[in-house]
Amino acid sequence: MLRREGVEGVEGEGHDARAEGRGVKGVPPGFPEWKVFRFAEVGSTNTVAARMAEAGAPEGTCVVAETQTGGRGRMGRTWHSPPGGLWFSVVLRPAVAPKDVGKLSLVTGVAVTEAIREAAALPAMMKWPNDVVVHGKKVSGTLVEGRWRGERVEHIVAGVGINVAVDVASLPPEVRALAGTLLPPHDPGAAALRDGLLEHVLEKLGSLYGRFLSGGFLEILEKARVYSDTLGREIEAACSDGVVRGTAVGIDADGALVIRTCSGEVRMVSGDVSVRSTGAVHAEQAGRGRR
Ligand code: BTN
Repeated sequence: MLRREGVEGVEGEGHDARAEGRGVKGVPPGFPEWKVFRFAEVGSTNTVAARMAEAGAPEGTCVVAETQTGGRGRMGRTWHSPPGGLWFSVVLRPAVAPKDVGKLSLVTGVAVTEAIREAAALPAMMKWPNDVVVHGKKVSGTLVEGRWRGERVEHIVAGVGINVAVDVASLPPEVRALAGTLLPPHDPGAAALRDGLLEHVLEKLGSLYGRFLSGGFLEILEKARVYSDTLGREIEAACSDGVVRGTAVGIDADGALVIRTCSGEVRMVSGDVSVRSTGAVHAEQAGRGRR
């Protein structure tokens, strides 16, 4: 049940109240229609969407902001969100076990990759686990957060940032070195591409999420393997146990990266991956941890 006070509560916090609800075409039957709420500026769309979810907002709620003052990335990092990008978060309420929630970040990454390929006609690839890169530069990241009680997932918030027409030169040096943008800042086509991308991502995500819920994760995983820019590369992956060096040889059935090292195969569920592409090591952002 949608409790309207969830939306009103968010608007009442001083965010721009230009919230708007509209449906997006292409959502498969059975999936709730996406309902998009637009804001000029928020702290973090993930935080706003989580508050709405906690107040009862239904699956399919989507929060979009033109800028974020406190955009969050993985591992507690800051996600710089100037004007020109597409910053949004969706509320999902999957009937899955908490252990399967991590798979949704891969599902979202595939949706963003395919949307960029179609809407922007660019050769988007996935950098494990779910960054999207174009010509080796990171143009998108995904932050999946959630709340569950025991074995019951209450809600998931999947937040997506896409550098559509961002002034990369304005980003901090450590981010600038790795970041890319789909269009130059102030490109006249930027607004249309942001709208088109949002529509494409929601359409793809609705379809892939539906397949995920009906047991089709392996099919989505296969897409992630096809789009992967990490597999076959010499990498360094940092986790709490230290640094693993080797060749990325696979993504297993749980979405973990399999690394062949000189002492055998290591399975990494999350980590800070550095890719040795042309002799240089590029630091990539990802979650941390190894199993
Ligand atoms: C990463 O690569 O570290 C993940 C970045 C995720 C950024 C998006 S922008 C919209 C949503 N709101 C946030 O605060 N973060 C996500």
